[in-house]
Amino acid sequence: MKEEKILVTSALPYVNNIPHLGTLICVLSADVYTRYLRLRKKNVVSVLGTDEHGTTAEVKALEEGITPKQLVDKYFKIHTEIYNWFGCDYDCYGRTSSKQNHEISQDIFLKLYKNGYIKEDELEQVYCKKCEKFLADRFVGGTCPHCKYEHARGDQCENCGKLLDAVELLNPKCSVCGLKPEIRKSKHLFIDLPKLEPELRKWIKKTEHNWSENAKTMAYGWLKEGIRPRCITRDLKWGVPVPLKGYEHKVFYSWFDAPIGYISITAEAKKDWRDWWHSKDVRLVQFMGKDNIPFHTIMFPAFLIGAKDNYTLLDSISVNEFLNYETGQFSKSRHQGVFGNDAKEIGIPADVWRYYLMINRPEKNDTQFLWDDFQEKLNNELVANIGNFVNRTITFTNRFFDGVAPKLLKKDLDLKNRYNDVAKLFDGIELKKGLKEIMNFSRTANQYFQENEPWKLIKEDKKKAENVIANLLLLTKDLSILIEPYLPETSREIQRQLNVKNLSWSDLGTGLSAGHKINKEKLLFTKLEDEEVKAFKEKFSGKKKPKESPFSKLNLKVAKVLDVKQHPNAEKLLVMQIDIGEKRQLVAGLKPYYSFDELKGKKIIVVSNLQPAKLRGEDSQGMLLAAQEGEKVGVLFVEKAKPGERVLIDGSKPGEKEITFNEFLEIKLEAKNGKAFFEGKVLKAGSEEVRVDKDLSGDIR
Ligand code: MF3
Ligand code: ZN
Repeated sequence: MKEEKILVTSALPYVNNIPHLGTLICVLSADVYTRYLRLRKKNVVSVLGTDEHGTTAEVKALEEGITPKQLVDKYFKIHTEIYNWFGCDYDCYGRTSSKQNHEISQDIFLKLYKNGYIKEDELEQVYCKKCEKFLADRFVGGTCPHCKYEHARGDQCENCGKLLDAVELLNPKCSVCGLKPEIRKSKHLFIDLPKLEPELRKWIKKTEHNWSENAKTMAYGWLKEGIRPRCITRDLKWGVPVPLKGYEHKVFYSWFDAPIGYISITAEAKKDWRDWWHSKDVRLVQFMGKDNIPFHTIMFPAFLIGAKDNYTLLDSISVNEFLNYETGQFSKSRHQGVFGNDAKEIGIPADVWRYYLMINRPEKNDTQFLWDDFQEKLNNELVANIGNFVNRTITFTNRFFDGVAPKLLKKDLDLKNRYNDVAKLFDGIELKKGLKEIMNFSRTANQYFQENEPWKLIKEDKKKAENVIANLLLLTKDLSILIEPYLPETSREIQRQLNVKNLSWSDLGTGLSAGHKINKEKLLFTKLEDEEVKAFKEKFSGKKKPKESPFSKLNLKVAKVLDVKQHPNAEKLLVMQIDIGEKRQLVAGLKPYYSFDELKGKKIIVVSNLQPAKLRGEDSQGMLLAAQEGEKVGVLFVEKAKPGERVLIDGSKPGEKEITFNEFLEIKLEAKNGKAFFEGKVLKAGSEEVRVDKDLSGDIR
């Protein structure tokens, strides 16, 4: 019999954002499964990469003010670092924007074309004359034809939730330039799915027994709705160009070139890629989220069947449902939920995340990430079960046997069936159950320790104690093998402590040889404390307020100078009566710079929430603002605004609490060319810009 070859793929994540824990479910699942196959010494190749084309990348690039290429480069780097940190070990890793993927996508297209599976048709589309381009649905804004909501987007109305077609919008507007776009006809290419349907059905019938329930239901659902030709071209610039005359300015729909990415990513990494992708003897196992099912069970197979080039087709599919965060959803913009980069930064090891995501793998329903649950699983399962067992065994061996493994005289537990049970679950890609079974194995190991009481035996029956320890070391070693696909770092650490290396499935059930010297013990996991959980909940709750600008501590008001007098006890000071909506007295050091008449009737700016003070015996309830440039001093003033009116910068609110003089000094106001600024924002009373007398530039006090 020919050796079985297995090709494993994870759906290629979109690379226009930072992946969150939910995205990682699929990527980690395929990694766990591949690691298992490697332990079994199977001939396996695994593929992961990033999905880089499509409208979302263009939109996001526009938002960030960079080109799509710069955008995907930026996020590709972030994704790569995150997958590496989580311990993903893929044989092939690449990007759909690669040259290789352009070539293979175009090649598959030309074959489909030659074989008569591509049709031409005309579509009505929204075109902006000013921007000189067809607008993707989400680049058009307008009024929803259903609910009349005025800020609907061409792809969907967020008010009534209905999916839209951009041409249906009332009062459409180009969201780039704001002009009214027109409707134009444009030619597009369609894959003729109805023509491929008989072959597709035949293939699905033959393969579906290897598919998860949700995959079958969805695929048949699609077929039942009646399958129509599907458009595979787009009027975008970012993507794989369509190699056909008359279509030079179009690119493929990203769901055309994305799955072909699996093939080209393999081609970039492996010389013998054709043996993997053009073969009847390869079992293709694909992991994905539930929203990807139709693309992998209908579209991608249709491309490959229609190309008639003996492409390897999907055999088994493993679909995950979604993961939510606490009681809501992951949202980067709201700072809600843990994203890949957060996990990397908060000091909890990758294996703990891997454990939690796999023991909670959303298989039949969506599941939630809950911090309390996370803490419980870390403390009660990883720490108390595996961590405790391994630590007790290694410590005991070091303390009572100088770290030397005693001879295994007799195996006390029958473990064969336990290994087989785990293997069966892995083979059926039951990854959550597989992990539970391994945790049961670890529980059994802990019980064996407990029941045999080696701490007593060592005093009562040395021989028996030796055999118990030999059994415990065997269990520890087995555990390090079984757990490897899920917790690769932990596995390596256990094996380091045991002083063994590179074990595989066939090493299960053999003890350490007598006389083998092990290393010192070291704790595998650390508990997560209640205070930490509390802090993390807060940190990722999405309730964070934006950091307050120090400017908003100030409560500035327009003040009309009613009267000015000389300070009775100080040569340079003046005492002023002002109106800031109420009457107040101010003391100011303006004597050298202003005459009484220059000040009287002027509308100056006053810090109204400064702690009141007595200056050389006179009360001062506030402080006026003035700029200094060299020897000159000029007060801040307005002409039109009324006494009592607030002085603000864009987006700020007036301060409510009283502030001290020192707090005031920390807020650096600045005068430039006769205007007053805080951090580059101009101070205004209503719509009137505050002026600086004598047009000074310099610090404001
Ligand atoms: N980027 C898609 C998603 O995240 C998945 C693409 S899978 C592929 O939903 F097959 F197209 F690569
Ligand atoms: Zn426009």
